[in-house]
This record gives sequence, structure tokens and C-alpha cells, in this order.
Amino acid sequence: MEGYRIRGGRPLEGEVEISGAKNAALPLLAASVLTRGENTFSSVPEISDVDSMVKILKGLGCSVKKEKETVTVDASNMSECSIPEEFMKEMRSSVFLAGALLARCGEAVITSPGGCDIGRRPIDIHIKGLESMGARMEKRDGRMIIKGPLLKGTKIRLKYPSVGATENIMLAATGAEGVTVIENSAREPEIEDLQKYINRCGGRISGAGTGRIEIEGGKRLTGCSHRIMGDRIEAGTYMFMALGTGGCIYLKNTEPSHMEYPVRFLKGGGWDIFCRENTITAKGRGSLRGCSFSTAPYPGFPTDLHPQTAAFLAVRGRDCEIEENIFEKRFKYAKELIKMGADIEISGKKVIIGDNKILCGREVEAEDLRGGAALIMAGLMAEGTTTVGNTRYIKRGYSRLEEKIRLLGGEITEYVQREP
Ligand code: UD1
Repeated sequence: MEGYRIRGGRPLEGEVEISGAKNAALPLLAASVLTRGENTFSSVPEISDVDSMVKILKGLGCSVKKEKETVTVDASNMSECSIPEEFMKEMRSSVFLAGALLARCGEAVITSPGGCDIGRRPIDIHIKGLESMGARMEKRDGRMIIKGPLLKGTKIRLKYPSVGATENIMLAATGAEGVTVIENSAREPEIEDLQKYINRCGGRISGAGTGRIEIEGGKRLTGCSHRIMGDRIEAGTYMFMALGTGGCIYLKNTEPSHMEYPVRFLKGGGWDIFCRENTITAKGRGSLRGCSFSTAPYPGFPTDLHPQTAAFLAVRGRDCEIEENIFEKRFKYAKELIKMGADIEISGKKVIIGDNKILCGREVEAEDLRGGAALIMAGLMAEGTTTVGNTRYIKRGYSRLEEKIRLLGGEITEYVQREP
């Protein structure tokens, strides 16, 4: 089975260009079905979830070309409104197409979306939002048939600020008659990128980044050129990797205001972090004692950085806790870190990190994307060789990971079969 072999103990040092954000690229690519004309997306991360989205768009009849980090999409001649189950299963973000297809065709046929197994991940808030605009959902043979030929703008208050539901409702609302207001909307920066893109195409949305988004529907959308924003989770991952190995890093294409939480706690631990426009420099030596974090919707501590933070604290922290409030099955990485010598235990929703330890290289298995990144980080910090199996999870969300780690001086290679 495929995986990464990592020889630990080398400090990661140098500069790294952060790729476009996975969580912005996927909803934006889905949104392109709302437009007529050519869209050129640049800084698209080279990850397998983007490949899956490209496959879905082609299946819907869009003309799509992908060359490295540039993807062009022309949805003028789109002919389908149904997504086959095998594509839906490949990733969570396939669900955004429900809102986009409803707006474009008045109908969407989907099945339950796939994605990492990090918790229950229902889509009730998405569906309730679409239904408030007049859509009707029927389940037949395991498929969800959502019809809404005459969507109407309305006020929708989300019971929880779900990122995906906010984006899905925004997309459907662009095709609705009148104004839709989403209250208690998610505030993640990726939602602002979606707003920017749709407005550039001729739409009218305001309020993204706040808890109240207003969408004026019924605008005719054309294609445009759009550069995807930098990936704040990838930036956080490399910052922890470098500091965890005792190195230093210069992150390019990173908006410091999106990284407030990790930057604040690293500064508190004694590391030197310098933020400038679109770059962050992180260096120095520090340690964290007795700190506690609780994951929360943005601008809170990001759940997508929880496993990487735990790996970092296993080596650079002492008596720390992370409370996971968003995805209840996000702890699978912990047993693998324990195999490597980490002093970690799980108690209910909390990860408790006891003493800081020197980790030892072991054979470990990634079971989801961010947990996989945490294990790679652990391997880079550990003594000896670590093999991280199940590379496919990590490739869903980290663009050119091996290349970037090697440029920073880390030793990582991909293998197809583990040596006996
Ligand atoms: C997005 C991100 C993911 C990140 C997560 C939280 C993308 C492609 N993925 O996922 O990387 O970890 O935000 O920051 O942007 N919930 C419901 N009902 C719903 C929808 C969500 O109960 O209809 C719950 C979920 O089970 C979870 C919480 O709300 O407990 C947050 O989910 P949500 O914000 O929707 O995350 P995603 O959009 O799936």
C-alpha cells in the first residue's frame, strides 16, 4: 500500500509558497456552473479533491481544462443536473453542487456526499435552507432529488454557522427571485473568496465574513478570472512543522489576519512570529505549558488544525488540552502518535497532552486528511524513520507536499509498497 517514508530529526528551514486554499477552490469550481462564458481560476491547489471536482464538472457537460494550477471552466453548454453516486462519494464538497445546480437548472440530483470520516456530517442545514427558498427534496433509491424551478429569496437563520450550508445557500440564492438573507452565517475567509468570485461574475452579494450575508438573486453571471486565496490550514501546518523540528520558515501567499489564532498562541509560547502583508516569518525556540484550546467556527481555533497542533504540542508542549467541538471523530491520529511515544490521552471531547516527549519513528497509518498531516509532522520531528500509510487521504488536501518538505530540507519519499 502507498505511503510516505520520512527520516526525522532535520530542522525544516526556508521559504514556502502556500498554495491556493482547498476550501475556497472547491466551492468556487462548483459555483462556476452558475456562469455562462469562460472562467479562469489560478492558484488552484494540485490535490485529488480538485481532480474529483473537475471530473464532476465534465460529467455535467462543462468544458474543463486543467494545467498545473490553472483550471478553466466553461459551463455554457452544461447539459446535466444529476451527479453519479461514485463521484459524490469521492469528497464532501460535491454537496455544493446541489445549490449551484438548483440555481442553474431548477433541479439537482445528488446522493450523500463522501469526505473524511471525522464525524457525522449531516446536511440537514443545507436542505432546510434550500427548502426555505421553495425547493422540495424527495429521496428515491438512495438519491436526493431536489427540485426548485422557482426559488424565492427569503430570510434564513442557520441553527449553526455551517460553512458548507452557508456556501450552498449562497449559490442557490443567486438563482432565486429577490433577496435572500442568511443570518448566523459562517464567517470563514473562504466564504469571502466565494462572494468575491460571484460578484466578479456579475452577481451581487454582500456581508461574507460576517454573520449576515445578503444575496440579490436573478443576475446573469458571466465567466471571469479569479485567483484562489492562500490556504490558511496549509500555512498553519508548515508553520508547526518548521517550529516543531526546531527550524524557521518564511510563508508566502498567506494572509496573516486569517492566522490570528495560531500566531497568537505561538507568540505566547515564546516563538518569534513576524507578519507582513501576505507573508509570515516564524522562528526561534519556545514551548507551551498549561495551555488549552477549543475548536470553534471562524474566527475561533480551526478544527482543521487540531491534529497538527496536537502533534506539535506532543513535542513542544506540556500539560496542554485541545477540546474538539466540531467533529467528534477527529481523534484517530492520537493512537498513532502514542505509538511514536507521545504522552497523549483522549478524554471525551478532549485531547490531553502530558509531558513533552522525543518521538520515535514507527509505522503509522493516516485515517483522514488533517490527521495524516499530523503524522507527517510527527515523523519529521521524530528520531529515526517513520512510514505513514494511506497517502491518498493526505493528497486530497496538500498540494505538492513532498516537494515543499524537501525544499525545506526535510527527508520524505513516497513508496508504493512498505518494505517487509
Ligand atoms: C468545512 C470545511 C472543513 C472544515 C469545516 C469546519 C470545506 C470544503 N470543508 O466543512 O475542512 O473542517 O468546514 O471548519 O470547506 N452540521 C450539521 N448539519 C449540516 C451541516 C453541518 O449538523 O447540515 C455540523 C457538522 O456535523 C459539524 C459542524 O456542523 O459538526 C460544522 O460543519 P460545517 O461547517 O458544515 O463543515 P463543512 O462545510 O462540512
